[in-house]
Amino acid sequence: MDLYEYQAKELFAAHGVPVLPGTVVSEAEEARRAAEEIGGQVVVKAQVKTGGRGKAGGVKLAADPDEAAEKARAILGLDIKGHVTRRVLVTEASEIAEEYYFSFLLDRANRTFLAMASAEGGMEIEQLAAERPEALAKVPIDPLTGVDLDKAREIVTKANFPEVVREKAAEVIVKLWETFVSEDATLVEVNPLVRDPKDEIIALDGKVTLDDNAAFRQPKHADLVDVEAEDPLEAKAKAKGLNYVKLDGQVGIIGNGAGLVMSTLDVVAYAGEKHGGVRPANFLDIGGGASAEVMAAGLEVILGDPDVKSVFVNVFGGITACDAVANGIVEALKILGDNATKPLVVRLDGNNVEEGRRILTEAAHPLVTLVDTMDSAADKAAELAAAGA
Ligand SMILES: Nc1ncnc2c1ncn2[C@@H]1O[C@H](COP(=O)(O)OP(=O)(O)OP(=O)(O)O)[C@@H](O)[C@H]1O
Ligand SMILES: [Mg+2]
Repeated sequence: MDLYEYQAKELFAAHGVPVLPGTVVSEAEEARRAAEEIGGQVVVKAQVKTGGRGKAGGVKLAADPDEAAEKARAILGLDIKGHVTRRVLVTEASEIAEEYYFSFLLDRANRTFLAMASAEGGMEIEQLAAERPEALAKVPIDPLTGVDLDKAREIVTKANFPEVVREKAAEVIVKLWETFVSEDATLVEVNPLVRDPKDEIIALDGKVTLDDNAAFRQPKHADLVDVEAEDPLEAKAKAKGLNYVKLDGQVGIIGNGAGLVMSTLDVVAYAGEKHGGVRPANFLDIGGGASAEVMAAGLEVILGDPDVKSVFVNVFGGITACDAVANGIVEALKILGDNATKPLVVRLDGNNVEEGRRILTEAAHPLVTLVDTMDSAADKAAELAAAGA
């Protein structure tokens, strides 16, 4: 889960990383009050989960409360790379002597953590990495030893931070590492990390990605989910414990096992080319135990998507054999009753396939078409979706 800047900075503050005070608001008049409370110059910043806000006009300086309200009015509703701004952060304006770049991230390719730092912050890091790679220090972090003050000094030295701020910056970096580890983050990025005229180091911006796989031991992180911004179907699937991702096509997909579902998306996208370009409508992995309840929950989510014109159920019987899955489908259709309205193409293979097919043939549900192979089933599902579109 990606966090908003204001959430990232709240986590930073909780771990002792210096940030400036600020308030998140969703209306211009609230921005005026927030600016009055802060006093003096403020910066109004779009809270959207994408980069490049400044360039898009989403970060503006305001001299007084009136101007803060005016800037907030201009930024609220602003579309930044497809993200509509619903809230702005009103925060104290900092005097900036220099801007640096800093991040900790999970380096999957090298199976370790990585610190990246540069004395040339502020600009987009991708651009810096491409144009002046020597200005970006990359220091691998051993997950067992982590980052202590010595390691942090090594990072700021490699990154050419000016001598006078190295010690302060190293202290902040140790706290950023504490944030990274104790919050189970896969990314902590500060761009810019600034030096003010008094040589203090402040995190002026913050980007944090939390590892969803650690959610079970981070109960507080549930509060950070932006319920309003979630896709309603994805929220419903999550509530039912399903692994669902909404896509933009017309063929609903249900499968067991992430690998099988991924390849099902591929064959459907391929088959769809022959049927007017229909595409998969979602990713849904119902996992190992394809019980009637799980099947019904999955079908309910998929059929609730108005874009879906047909559904492809692709199951490989393993520990849960095909007869159990077939019974699951039959029962699920009973549970759904009149709510099941779109054609279903079912392909079963693997353990007890004969019995599974017999059960479905005997049930003879008017919406169900049984197809033996994955390619033909994908073709049939695409054809039905095109016909129903
Ligand atoms: N509180 C502040 N006081 C003074 N200047 C600020 C403040 N916040 C941001 N700025 C200035 O605005 C620039 C852009 O701000 P910020 O880094 O938060 O947004 P961004 O880089 O455009 O967005 P993103 O990081 O999402 O790409 C900063 O580099 C800094 O110069
Ligand atoms: Mg930034």
